[in-house]
Amino acid sequence: MDKQKILDVLKDVYDPEIGRSIVELGMVKPEYIDIDGSTVKIRVNLTIKGCPLQATIKDDIEKKLLSLGFDKVVVTFGEMSKEEKDALMGKNVPEDSIFDTARTILVGSGKGGVGKSTIAVNLAIAASKLGYKVGLIDADILGFSVTRMLGISGVRPNAIDETHMFPIQVHGIKAISMGNFVDEDSAVIWRGPLLSNILQQFMYNVEWGDLDYIFVDLPPGTGDVPLSIMQIIPQSYLLLVTTPQSAASHVAGRLGKMAQKTGVDILGVVENMSYFECPDCGSKHYIFGKNEAEKLGSELKTKVLGEIPIISEIREKSDTGRPITLEENNPVTDIYKELFRNIDRQCTEIDESYASINK
Ligand SMILES: Nc1ncnc2c1ncn2[C@@H]1O[C@H](COP(=O)(O)OP(=O)(O)OP(=O)(O)O)[C@@H](O)[C@H]1O
Ligand SMILES: [Mg+2]
Repeated sequence: MDKQKILDVLKDVYDPEIGRSIVELGMVKPEYIDIDGSTVKIRVNLTIKGCPLQATIKDDIEKKLLSLGFDKVVVTFGEMSKEEKDALMGKNVPEDSIFDTARTILVGSGKGGVGKSTIAVNLAIAASKLGYKVGLIDADILGFSVTRMLGISGVRPNAIDETHMFPIQVHGIKAISMGNFVDEDSAVIWRGPLLSNILQQFMYNVEWGDLDYIFVDLPPGTGDVPLSIMQIIPQSYLLLVTTPQSAASHVAGRLGKMAQKTGVDILGVVENMSYFECPDCGSKHYIFGKNEAEKLGSELKTKVLGEIPIISEIREKSDTGRPITLEENNPVTDIYKELFRNIDRQCTEIDESYASINK
C-alpha cells in the first residue's frame, strides 16, 4: 500500500468547520503517515489543537482507511505551524477589502491637467483634519504625481511579503503611488496586463488598516484604467473635476456616462480654477467663464459640490510636497473642508436612497 493511495481516499475527508478536504488544506501530508503491515498510523495537524470537531475527523479517517483493508488505524492530532495557519487563512477567510469598509471616492476628469491630483491630495488632507481616517491611491501609474505633491517621492513602503505592504503615512493620511516604487524621472512604460497588475496590488495588497474614506486619483480620460477601476469597485462614488472651459466639462461628461454604465454613483462636480480673486480688491474674476460646471451637473443630474479658485500658492505648495491644506488658517483649507463636508453629505444621501429602495 503506498501513501498516495491513502491520501487519495483522505481527499474525501472534510474539515467540518472549514468545509474543505483535509488533504487540500495541508492537514495531512505523506510524512505524517506511517504504514506498518496492516496497521496505519496517521497524524492530522489541526488549526487549533483540541478542536471539538476532531472526533468527527477521526471517525471519517478510520472508516476510509479500514475500507482500504487496514486492520488497525491510529489517528493522532497535532497543530499547524503559524506559517501554515497564515497560509490557510489567506486561502479561506475572504478578507474584507478596504472598498467594502471605506467609502471610495474616485477623482476623475475627462481632460488632463484640470487638477485631479491636486484636489485628491488636498481633499484627503482636509478630511483627515476633520477627523476622518483617510487613504489615497494614486491610480495614475504612468503619470503619477501624488508622491511629489506629498513630498514622499521614492519613499519605499515597508512590506511583510509580496502581498502585504504598508502604505506611506504622511501629513495625517496613508498613501500609495507608483512614485514609491520608481524614481520621479524614470519612464514607466508598462502597458496592459502589467499596469492592471500594479493597480490590483495597490487595491488589494496594501494593509490600509481601518479607513473611513479612500480617495483614488484617476489618470485623465476614459481609458482602460478608469474603466477597470469602475468595474472592480462599482460601489464607489465618482467626483468629477472640471474647469470652466466648456471643452473640459464636455469631456468630463464622457467619464460621467462611463460611471453611469458601470454602476458607479456620480457624487457631483467640483469646478477647479473657477475664478481668480483679486488680491487687492477681493473681487472674483471668472477668467474662463461661468456656469459650465452647472451645465455639466444638470446634464448628469448631479450637483456642483464646490468651486476652487485659481491661486498660484496652490501649485507652489504642491510642488514643495506640503499641500496648502496643511495650513490651518488658509482660506483655501476652509474651501476644501467645505467641499469634503459636501461630499460626505452627498455620500450619505446616496446611501440612504439605496437603503430606502432596499426596504
Ligand atoms: N486651483 C489651482 N490653482 C492654481 N494651480 C492649480 C490649481 N489646481 C491645480 N493647479 C496646478 O495645475 C497643475 C495641474 O494640476 P494636477 O496635476 O493636479 O492636474 P491633473 O488633472 O491631476 O493632471 P493629470 O491629468 O496630468 O493627472 C499643477 O501644476 C497644479 O499645481
Ligand atoms: Mg494627476
